[in-house]
Amino acid sequence: MSSPHTVRWGIMATGWIAESKKNSNPMFCKDLLTDPACRGVSDVRHEIVAAASSTSKDRAQDFLAETIKAPGSPRAYGSYAELVADRDVDIVYVATPHSHHFQNAMLALEAGKNVLCEKAFTVTAAQARRLVAAARARRLFLMEAVWTRYFPLSVKVRELVRQGAVGPVYRVLADNSFANGAGDGERVTFADAHRMVNPDLAGGALLDLGIYSLTWLMQILYHLQPEADREKPVVAAAVNKYPATGVDESTALVLTFPRHKSMGLGTTSLRVATDPDGPFSGGPAIRIQGAKGEIQVQGPAFRPLQYRVVLQGGGGKTEVVDCPIPRDDRAGWGHGMFWEADEAARCLRDGRLESATLPLDESVVIMEVMEEALRQGGVEYPELITTDVFDPQSPLNTGKSS
Ligand SMILES: NC(=O)c1ccc[n+]([C@@H]2O[C@H](COP(=O)([O-])OP(=O)(O)OC[C@H]3O[C@@H](n4cnc5c(N)ncnc54)[C@H](OP(=O)(O)O)[C@@H]3O)[C@@H](O)[C@H]2O)c1
Repeated sequence: MSSPHTVRWGIMATGWIAESKKNSNPMFCKDLLTDPACRGVSDVRHEIVAAASSTSKDRAQDFLAETIKAPGSPRAYGSYAELVADRDVDIVYVATPHSHHFQNAMLALEAGKNVLCEKAFTVTAAQARRLVAAARARRLFLMEAVWTRYFPLSVKVRELVRQGAVGPVYRVLADNSFANGAGDGERVTFADAHRMVNPDLAGGALLDLGIYSLTWLMQILYHLQPEADREKPVVAAAVNKYPATGVDESTALVLTFPRHKSMGLGTTSLRVATDPDGPFSGGPAIRIQGAKGEIQVQGPAFRPLQYRVVLQGGGGKTEVVDCPIPRDDRAGWGHGMFWEADEAARCLRDGRLESATLPLDESVVIMEVMEEALRQGGVEYPELITTDVFDPQSPLNTGKSS
């Protein structure tokens, strides 16, 4: 048996998604460092060889040694510029707030690094197009880290739709919402400076949470269209703004694909919850509705663990399929982020510059949809984070903005 292809990661930023605090959910680095055999993978493996914090080298050191306990002798940097200059780094994982993604991913690409960039990919569609052009011009790998697309559950559901399990799909409904407020319609629980609601950090429900509702709409209604007959959606959106900061607190998107006679309704909110009382308490977060029946996916939309197939005239029989994620709660791994990392590793191994599961042109369309929805809702972000002019000295790259 040949030895696995090893990919050496550089981690850009030491925040919530990159780390693995005991009670936090997303744990990219812990998932990355887990033995791939846990998920039946033997052809690729991952190493973290460096991490950078824009705050200080000590913070990066502490992150590597204490928070994620990275094995070996990974290097700690006190700037993103040093990280992207590290010759041993094959790929940079950009884990900064979305406001920073364009400048930070460009910094890495300009330094000749492959990039896996957290969602939302960018703040504007023009930024996304710039990133894609930069990666293609340099023949570097670039991928938006929409981890849900790589779940075995998502792969299976796409396969079922492709095979016509519920007939032609005419409608998809998807929600990703969390109730974060006291209920008085004024303040949610996030401080105004928190990236979830801070316009300077591209806050708001759509870019952070609604992207997962949109993920389901797009991976079924757009991604599965025959390539020769691709049709971008027509977008109609409604937005309620968060009074304290002006970002979107609740957004509804209607996407129509007139030629394909299909439509998707995606919703997101910081005020109400998809599942108000724990897993499965709100019914399916996603309904993929075809002429013969529907596939229902239990939420949360970003990390689904079960789907059901309900056929018309099925006599009350429902096929229920559980798709558990291998995990070890004590060790802190098993969120489901390893599958996207494996995809990136296989692309690098095979010389593929983008993932067929989420092609770059599709990431651009996704940004076009979100930009249009926010435009219709009157949400605006500052010039510093919407410019599509790369500046290595931007405060977003040097950490001097916070
Ligand atoms: N895939 C998922 O499930 C998932 C879940 C959560 C978040 N995310 C995405 O991951 C990204 C980061 O989210 P997060 O929750 O990890 O954010 P976070 O906890 O606020 O961390 C962001 C990190 O970015 C760096 N940073 C640089 N400039 C900053 C500034 N002006 N303000 C705040 N942070 C700054 C900081 O690290 P240094 O000081 O080390 O530079 C900070 O710790 C977002 O785009 C988010 O959408 C994805």
